[in-house]
Amino acid sequence: MSQSNAAAIAPQSSFGLRVQIENVSRNYGAVAAVADVSIDVAAGEFVSLLGPSGSGKTTLLMMLAGFEHPDAGTIRVGDRDVTNLAPNKRDIAMVFQRYALFPHMSVAENIAFPLVMRKVGRADRERRVMQALETVKLSGYGDRKPSELSGGQQQRVALARAIVFDPPVILMDEPLGALDKKLRQHMQFELKQLQQRLGATVIYVTHDQEEALTMSDRVAVMSQGRLMQLGSPRELYDRPNDAFVADFLGEMNFLPGTVRESDAQGCIVDVAGGIAHAGLPVRGGRPAPGDRVRVAVRPEAITVVPSGSADAANDARRGSVSGVLSQLVFNGATIVLLIERPDGSVIQACMNPQHEQPGLTVGQPVTASWSRDAAAIFAGDA
Ligand SMILES: Nc1ncnc2c1ncn2[C@@H]1O[C@H](COP(=O)(O)OP(=O)(O)O)[C@@H](O)[C@H]1O
Ligand SMILES: [Mg+2]
Repeated sequence: MSQSNAAAIAPQSSFGLRVQIENVSRNYGAVAAVADVSIDVAAGEFVSLLGPSGSGKTTLLMMLAGFEHPDAGTIRVGDRDVTNLAPNKRDIAMVFQRYALFPHMSVAENIAFPLVMRKVGRADRERRVMQALETVKLSGYGDRKPSELSGGQQQRVALARAIVFDPPVILMDEPLGALDKKLRQHMQFELKQLQQRLGATVIYVTHDQEEALTMSDRVAVMSQGRLMQLGSPRELYDRPNDAFVADFLGEMNFLPGTVRESDAQGCIVDVAGGIAHAGLPVRGGRPAPGDRVRVAVRPEAITVVPSGSADAANDARRGSVSGVLSQLVFNGATIVLLIERPDGSVIQACMNPQHEQPGLTVGQPVTASWSRDAAAIFAGDA
């Protein structure tokens, strides 16, 4: 205990600790809230747990914090097995979605609270509170009540309270979820900067894929208690190993079809309106001719040209899908194109307005194409 307190109140900058989650499971009755999850988080790393509501993110975080206990598995922080340790013995701080500030206490008293709990002396306490206020850019606000602050400022107080004892590991459960979009984006940037400055390990829960991609070194995508994929934002976006991951991160077109041929580089697939090229599956073997698959391609990877143009003839040789341009929407940064295929399904493409093809008009036959490496492939129709 004294050892953990000493670590918790070490002066000045904190150093992140490695967090090892090994085969952790937690059931509630028949519900597998967390099912055999393993994640090895490096010291100082920022890892997000990303998934829809009910996917087990909070349950996993509560087990890391020590407020819930795994039915199976091990949790290590640094070189300690903390699986059965009380929350206050873990060198871990937690920030919740609702700031959970004490309304009757001043900002400074709120921030000092973890230090009081750890029996830090008054002088040291005051110095650290000042420092934490400065870190979250709220110097001079110490005497206010939380109710006298904006939502963003209250969340910064909650953050200051979390970092005031220099925790090597900080857990955050949708900490920006209650803020409006503009402020949330600003806070994402600030949080990330702060984490880099402190060097703390952060495990961050969000259901917002953009937030996870923006902030994280790596993202753990969860669904129904299971870890679907763990990787850098780029890896997850460009090489999803699972259709759920592909669909959950960003926009994705899925084109069901039948494999015509495949080789060591990729596949050619018959789909409604033409033929599609795609790479090979990340998981599983090379598809065989006749296999039912789904080709997955991002809107920004698709080139759209009027059918019958010279460009279209070129595209036909590398695989293309024809349809009718049913919508063309300019939204500032991009132009979004919707293309209706002969089977009635719709493909979404988007392009930089500066690359708009001349002569594209709604109602016109168009040809959509993409490079093989830009398209993923998944088994089955579902
Ligand atoms: N205390 C609990 N009692 C019963 N079921 C729970 C409890 N906490 C969570 N669950 C269930 O576990 C699953 C995962 O929940 P949770 O971890 O809160 O997901 P998330 O944070 O991703 O939304 C859900 O099906 C949820 O209903
Ligand atoms: Mg949750």
